[in-house]
Order: sequence, then structure tokens, then C-alpha cells
Amino acid sequence: MKIGIFFGSSTGNTETAAELIEGHFSDHDCTVQDVSSIEAGDLLGYDFLLMGISTWYVGEAQDDWIDLIDDMEGMDFNGVKFAIFGQGDQLGYPDTFQDGMGMIYEKVMAGGGQCFGFTSIEGYDFDESRGLIDGKFCGLSLDEDNQGEMTDERVEAWCKQLLEEL
Ligand SMILES: Cc1cc2nc3c(=O)[nH]c(=O)nc-3n(C[C@H](O)[C@H](O)[C@H](O)COP(=O)(O)O)c2cc1C
Repeated sequence: MKIGIFFGSSTGNTETAAELIEGHFSDHDCTVQDVSSIEAGDLLGYDFLLMGISTWYVGEAQDDWIDLIDDMEGMDFNGVKFAIFGQGDQLGYPDTFQDGMGMIYEKVMAGGGQCFGFTSIEGYDFDESRGLIDGKFCGLSLDEDNQGEMTDERVEAWCKQLLEEL
């Protein structure tokens, strides 16, 4: 599989997650790219598209995703298989936890994409999230600020889940 892993990261947490995820897809042809240097069209052309985003400024997308998400409006994602991973702070921002994940989900789904890798909210403590679809996260929710010790385990389980679902 040709896999594109794209991340936006302000302090490095989502970037580290992208690298961890890449390690679990080493049998595949993986490209890891920072979204600060791409255009929306660069997201296309992969068998599987993985997008990583952190949430900032109380419910905003990470800086480098902001324009990109705007540009994804109206794009054709028909037939695109994708998954989302996010970094957020559930205790500091319990009402906007992982909102960025939801922003990406909404755009790609509107364009006809097919989302993989939903996960349970069990083990998290927050009130609201735009990243919730039918009571589940629309991807992998990571919280380096409060649950960093769980990241490796969560990434490993999620990557295994993705390979089974695909
Ligand atoms: C000013 C500020 C605002 C933040 N706002 C949110 C938020 O609304 N929701 C959330 O889940 N996390 C929020 N966070 C937490 C970051 O998403 C978290 O620290 C994340 O690990 C940063 O990842 P990055 O280094 O890849 O950008 C905020 C952090 C800061 C410093």
C-alpha cells in the first residue's frame, strides 16, 4: 500500500505520533510529511491517507491546518480511504477536546471519503468534542499532556485495528 501520513504540529507532539505510526506501517510504502509545506491536492494519490492534527486556541485547528482545511472544502475525496489521529489536552480544554479531528473528518467525509479507525472514549475524561461521531472518536485520540505514558500502547493498538479494517 502507498500510505501518506500528513501532520501539523506546533510543539512536536503530533509529529512524534506520526513517526510512531509510520513505524507500524514499515511493510508499506510510507511517506511522512508536515502539512506546513503542502497544498490540499497533495493529500490525494495514496491508497491510504492518515492525517494528524492537534487542537489549539480553544477549539481551533493547529496553525498549519487552518488554510488547508479551508482549501479542502468542495474537494473530491471519493474513494479515498483515510484515518485521523489527534493530539489534545482533555483536562485543560474539556469542552473542545480534539475538535481538530472533527474538522478534518467533516471535510473529507463531505467530499466522499471513507473513514477508518474509530475509537472508544473509554479512558478519557472530557465534556465535549467535535471529534466525536456517534459517541466514538473519529480516529485516534492522543493526549501527551495528561496521558503521555499511554501513547505507545494506543498507537500500536490503533495501527493494528487499521490494518484489520482495511
Ligand atoms: C493555548 C493552547 C490552547 C489549546 N487548545 C486546545 C483545545 O482547544 N483542545 C485540545 O484538545 N487541546 C488544546 N491544546 C492542547 C494541545 O493540543 C496539546 O498540547 C497538543 O499535544 C499539542 O500538539 P502539537 O505539539 O503537535 O501541536 C491547547 C494548548 C495550548 C497551549
